[in-house]
Amino acid sequence: MASVVATLPLLGLRITAGPIELRGVTDDLLLPLAEVASAGIHDADFMPFSVAWSLTPPHEMPLTVAQYHWGQRARFSPARWSADFAVIYVGELVGSQGISTEDYLITRTGETGSWLARRYQGKGIGTAMRQVICAFAIDHLNAEQITSGAFTDNLASLAVSRKCGYTDNGQATKVRMGKRATLRRIVLEPANLVRYSHELTVEGLPEFRRSIGLDQPAVSRESE
Ligand SMILES: CC(C)(COP(=O)(O)OP(=O)(O)OC[C@H]1O[C@@H](n2cnc3c(N)ncnc32)[C@H](O)[C@@H]1OP(=O)(O)O)[C@@H](O)C(=O)NCCC(=O)NCCS
Repeated sequence: MASVVATLPLLGLRITAGPIELRGVTDDLLLPLAEVASAGIHDADFMPFSVAWSLTPPHEMPLTVAQYHWGQRARFSPARWSADFAVIYVGELVGSQGISTEDYLITRTGETGSWLARRYQGKGIGTAMRQVICAFAIDHLNAEQITSGAFTDNLASLAVSRKCGYTDNGQATKVRMGKRATLRRIVLEPANLVRYSHELTVEGLPEFRRSIGLDQPAVSRESE
């Protein structure tokens, strides 16, 4: 595994804060994540996602989840990356939290996204994991802005955003399940982050920072 982590440091990232751990999605976590997703993320008559992947039949979910993560790994570069984590709460895998971006070295902006299996919802875990990823991006990756979006009928997601300090940032018209739907855009300025009650500990940070283009050695004048 050491060589895989050296190749893609995202896989070696571990962010711990009290009972919460965000862990880079290594291959051994793909099947467990698929099983958690198949247990159900939302009611049958509600779709929180633009891509309705959560409706994948249980026997196809392992491939769907694996192909998503393998695809993100394959495309990972400083110009465009997505850091999706498995969320472990008190030792139990409960869902996923991610942040994705393009041209991060210039924009210093990332977009958060998340899901929890339904049986873990409504207990404050969604708020905690969002607070953790936002603190990670701001404190450890020098993010200057974090965005997110949720359909207007996704009241839990919008409540979590509000509780973390995001504010309104307009709206967008999207297609959801073949029909028009309004997405509320929200934005978090670092000063507005409502922090989680536990400090973050990050494993694998220097390697990950280098992999997204931060901390590159300065070009020596003599070699120009
Ligand atoms: C969005 C999600 C990650 C939130 O996680 P969670 O652990 O349930 O969230 P929390 O328990 O931390 O907080 C939920 C908040 O939403 C509020 N909420 C939940 N359902 C609500 C509803 N129908 N109306 C109004 N508020 C609601 C809760 O009251 C709570 O706020 P409070 O603590 O101030 O009372 C989770 O619900 C989820 O996975 N949903 C399905 C996938 C999804 O929507 N992902 C985001 C896509 S944008």
